[in-house]
Amino acid sequence: MSVTDKALRDYFDFLREAGVDAVIDKYAGTWTGWRTPVIVNVAGESVDDYVEVVRRLDGIAGVAGIELNISCPNVGKGGLQFAIDADAAAGVTAAVRRITDLPLLVKLSPNVADVRPIARAIEAAGADALTAINTLSGIAVAPSRAKPLLGNIYGGLSGPAIKPVALRIVYEVAQVVDIPVVAIGGITELADVLDFLAVGAAAVQVGTAIFADPTLPVRLVDDLEAECRRRGLASFAPLIGTALPRKPGAPSAKGVEYRP
Ligand SMILES: Cc1cc2nc3c(=O)[nH]c(=O)nc-3n(C[C@H](O)[C@H](O)[C@H](O)COP(=O)(O)O)c2cc1C
Repeated sequence: MSVTDKALRDYFDFLREAGVDAVIDKYAGTWTGWRTPVIVNVAGESVDDYVEVVRRLDGIAGVAGIELNISCPNVGKGGLQFAIDADAAAGVTAAVRRITDLPLLVKLSPNVADVRPIARAIEAAGADALTAINTLSGIAVAPSRAKPLLGNIYGGLSGPAIKPVALRIVYEVAQVVDIPVVAIGGITELADVLDFLAVGAAAVQVGTAIFADPTLPVRLVDDLEAECRRRGLASFAPLIGTALPRKPGAPSAKGVEYRP
């Protein structure tokens, strides 16, 4: 592990564990010095949790936007994840919308049969953009085979294995909402970025691959700029949505949608 890797891991660990006030105290000053706007990812177990954390972040210099991670158990609803229920997802979005004018992204879960009604509900509740996707629910088995490997039994599957699922969800969501879709799921190189733009993403994020190479996002920006220059494009806007059907919402070529 290099010094950079260790610093990155410490940074992520701190952000996850420390609580909002400690994060603001320790990092907001640093963020104001960055050229890249910082969008803070917020999690909670109740609508009040989300509202309280966003209330603290709102107005802090260095915080350019909020992304709600709603793949969390809603204790008020018996542990049901906000992200798998359109009403719960819309409820937390609307509550946060009421207390901040910061750009508000809400992150979709792939662990649903049809994400489109949930995406539409979040849009109607006032989100500025949707992020797709969070991790896929999975389990691993302990070497003894006497129990699941993870203490929590379920874990989140991420990285290149989930890219086709992320592409499918971005493709579906981009056709039913008017707000931008920010894609994440298995991006490791420029070809992945171009694929996600083609199915309707307006921007992309990098998750798992950043642990292997913290500089990857910077390189991807350079690669995308070079690709646009090569194609004679002033921006990547013409690359967005080129693989979407001409008739929005059209079923697959066989006339039905494949559903698990
Ligand atoms: C170690 C780890 C930690 C994560 N923590 C968060 C988190 O705090 N909030 C969140 O919204 N998503 C979190 N995710 C999900 C990622 O942001 C991303 O949505 C998912 O991993 C798919 O993208 P990827 O294949 O590029 O990793 C995490 C993923 C991993 C692997």
